[in-house]
Amino acid sequence: MTRVGVVGIGFMGWIHWLAYRRVQNAKVVAICETIPERLTGDWTKIKGNFGPAGEKVNLSNIKAYDNLDKMLADPEIDMVDICLPPAAHASAVIKALSAGKHVFCEKPISLAPTDADRMVEAAKQNGKILQIGHVLPFFPAFKFLYDAVQDGRYGKLIGGHFKRITSDPTWIPNFYDPNVAGGPMLDLHVHDAHFIRVIAGMPKTVKTIGRMRGDVAELFSTQFTFADSPIFITAACGNIKQQGRPFTAAFEVYFEKATLCNQFAGLVGVDPVVVPLTVLKDDGTVERPNLGENDDISPFAAEITEVIRAVEAGKPSPILDGALAKDALKLCAAETKSLQHGSEYTL
Ligand SMILES: NC(=O)c1ccc[n+]([C@@H]2O[C@H](COP(=O)([O-])OP(=O)(O)OC[C@H]3O[C@@H](n4cnc5c(N)ncnc54)[C@H](O)[C@@H]3O)[C@@H](O)[C@H]2O)c1
Repeated sequence: MTRVGVVGIGFMGWIHWLAYRRVQNAKVVAICETIPERLTGDWTKIKGNFGPAGEKVNLSNIKAYDNLDKMLADPEIDMVDICLPPAAHASAVIKALSAGKHVFCEKPISLAPTDADRMVEAAKQNGKILQIGHVLPFFPAFKFLYDAVQDGRYGKLIGGHFKRITSDPTWIPNFYDPNVAGGPMLDLHVHDAHFIRVIAGMPKTVKTIGRMRGDVAELFSTQFTFADSPIFITAACGNIKQQGRPFTAAFEVYFEKATLCNQFAGLVGVDPVVVPLTVLKDDGTVERPNLGENDDISPFAAEITEVIRAVEAGKPSPILDGALAKDALKLCAAETKSLQHGSEYTL
């Protein structure tokens, strides 16, 4: 049984808390938070954009710490799950690894690639496992795509297009501050950058076009190329001030023997535009695989199940390894540079 301490009881801390209830071999034994009411179990003011509203929770068997150092001194915690804002990830992760804990930390790994280097190095130096919460591969359509790449059921991957566009998140303070949230590049696109890295390897070059807002990319499209492979991939991402479509995510990915398509676009006042996972096969047939029953918490439960499996196996997950999250962050930094300078960037 892996004993877990969750740090940061905000939106993601709450979602992880709910997910752990569905995970075998892991138990939340402690929380750490600076807001006093949350240390007493009053989580009703937690705000998020999916999942159940925050509730009053029973913390009678849970240790509640108001300070990370105190939590890290607790010998009855094996893994620390860090759900702090991105600017706090690097120092909390390095402290936790140095205290001899395994770490699972929300995405993005950090804001600066140099911090990500230090975090991955700290895991190595302390002989502990660092995994980052890139949950996208655990969403059913992305899981289907990931599995198809792994088992080759449709032949080799040829290329594809990813899209992740939201309305301007006016409710998130400092969203466009590179030292706080990093804008859509680090909040949204990092998911697709990580997924591309996982299914196709580390790209050799990126060429990004689009618009900047201050120091961060606002709305953009990137072309990725790979050193030893003819795979071609593009990804579009960003925020646009059309509040009627709060969120859209989509992919169209080509294999030798099939094309996989998927889209979800949430719209205000009308039904969402959804393309359920659709497989166009080379014999001319079209399939809609049954992806089973899922809710907002299921991808996080599947993700944390993989985190715990990897901790028990003593080796980072091939999906959630901190080194892959570091690569995703490096891709995002390269894309921003390419956009700023108007030229291709070689990694
Ligand atoms: N995977 C996803 O789909 C997804 C979705 C949303 C957010 N995220 C990521 O999750 C992370 C957290 O985002 P969020 O939306 O939950 O933020 P949030 O602001 O809702 O929660 C952060 C919590 O950390 C607490 N906190 C801050 N400093 C602290 C400290 N020093 N010690 C203890 N607690 C402290 C805050 O009081 C707050 O409760 C971010 O990295 C974000 O990018 C991931």
